[in-house]
Amino acid sequence: MKIVRAKDYQELSRKAANVIFAQVVYKPDSVLGLATGSSPIGTYQELVERHRQGDLDFSEVVSVNLDEYRGLPASDPQSYDHFMREHLFGLVNIKPENTYLPNGVAADPNAECARYDALIESLGGVDLQLLGCGRNGHIGFNEPADCFSKGTQLVDLTESTIEANKRFFASADEVPRQAFSMGIRTILHARRILTVISGEDKAQAVRDGLFGPITPQVPLSALQLHPNAIVIVDDAAFHLCVQR
Ligand code: F6R
Repeated sequence: MKIVRAKDYQELSRKAANVIFAQVVYKPDSVLGLATGSSPIGTYQELVERHRQGDLDFSEVVSVNLDEYRGLPASDPQSYDHFMREHLFGLVNIKPENTYLPNGVAADPNAECARYDALIESLGGVDLQLLGCGRNGHIGFNEPADCFSKGTQLVDLTESTIEANKRFFASADEVPRQAFSMGIRTILHARRILTVISGEDKAQAVRDGLFGPITPQVPLSALQLHPNAIVIVDDAAFHLCVQR
């Protein structure tokens, strides 16, 4: 695992976009695993800018998102499907039929998880997985647990995650209590992983996840096992790791 430092969110976003840019230039038909939340927004803005400048072509790119809230249809403005269209898909030339997310309103959750894993496999796996990280060290919606999760699953969100995500909703009551999420095994199967972590509220997760023992209590720590993982951390998120 390689740790890359950035002074602030802007620099972090530029560096992350560089990695994705290089991936797509080297392999125009890359399968990108994508994330939502506030962490990757700056990265998406950078990518959109490079596309507008004519330097980045998404016409052959395929994307699979990490997760989706259960109970929200794609048309819901709070769905991750909507988020992706607003921040990336609607602003670049990726083909809508090449973008995939779990179906939040699937009638049979188990069948939906199996379908999503089979889909990822049929695409040949993920070339580059982009991740953010929760305050409690979650990646995707893999919350602290007694063992690492495997494939895509339906997860119960923790109070800490509901609290952190309520900023995107009118109130905490409106935050869905469950989500479909790729599992840790699925994430680790990606050929490359790029994680962006910004802000003081992530400092504990950074210290425990990047420098502590590998444990399912800190899902981020699983990335220490990956041979091709880059984690870009800004100064605010790194501050507990700096020796004084
Ligand atoms: C989103 C996701 C989550 C977020 C994490 C951090 O697709 O999988 O793990 O990356 O909750 O969220 P932000 O970036 O909003 O702090």
